[in-house]
Amino acid sequence: MRKWVVANFKMFKTIEEVEEYAEEFKSLVAESKHNIAVCPSFVGIKPMEELLEDTDIFVGAQNCADEEEGAYTGEVSAKMLKSAGADMVILGHSERRRYYGETDEIVNKKIKQAHKEGLAVIVCLADDGGDGFEENIKKQIEVLLDGVDAGEKLIIAFEPVWAIGTGKTMKTEDIEPVTKVIKEEARKVIGYMPEVLYGGSVKVSNAEEILALESVDGLLVGGASKDPNEFAKICNS
Ligand code: PGA
Repeated sequence: MRKWVVANFKMFKTIEEVEEYAEEFKSLVAESKHNIAVCPSFVGIKPMEELLEDTDIFVGAQNCADEEEGAYTGEVSAKMLKSAGADMVILGHSERRRYYGETDEIVNKKIKQAHKEGLAVIVCLADDGGDGFEENIKKQIEVLLDGVDAGEKLIIAFEPVWAIGTGKTMKTEDIEPVTKVIKEEARKVIGYMPEVLYGGSVKVSNAEEILALESVDGLLVGGASKDPNEFAKICNS
């Protein structure tokens, strides 16, 4: 079945590095059976989009402003992302929450801005998947998805906070129950079950096993997406 494989480059790669990556990567994944997306930094979006124009690979951003436009120095609006060629945006990543104080309320505003511009949204939940996760996820989803237009494209990413960039992954058998709870709670708010991605130290050695889980609709990949060969292997799993 066609699933998602999404690269989050975080704050890595200059424009030149993005261009080099795109050239090399596209031929490596020409046969992939998945939906692939790459999310470079803001400045990498336009060059990435231009070089991938002749492919089915989606290009996304890692953040956007929570306002439409105005005197918000240093911010980048959803409309700007759209004009740079982005198809989608990752919002509410746990690094945004931890280092830049993003709350569920702020992320909710960002989702609405992105949707207004027709961008697909990958919204990240911040949880550890441990005791009390059901209650925590329910609360987060209620705020994050409040008033979100069910007609717009929304994907949820679940990344246990302790698994991001640490090399540790959740036991495969523990992933499925969590993703099921997320889908069910989201359905209560938006009326349908969205696709749910798993993230947190996904690598070549565990990608296939996680992608095979029925309730997992794809992967969000950080560290292992930096190298085009390694990321291509994941896309071809
Ligand atoms: P990681 O990052 O794959 O390096 O753990 C995932 C993410 O933060 O999206």
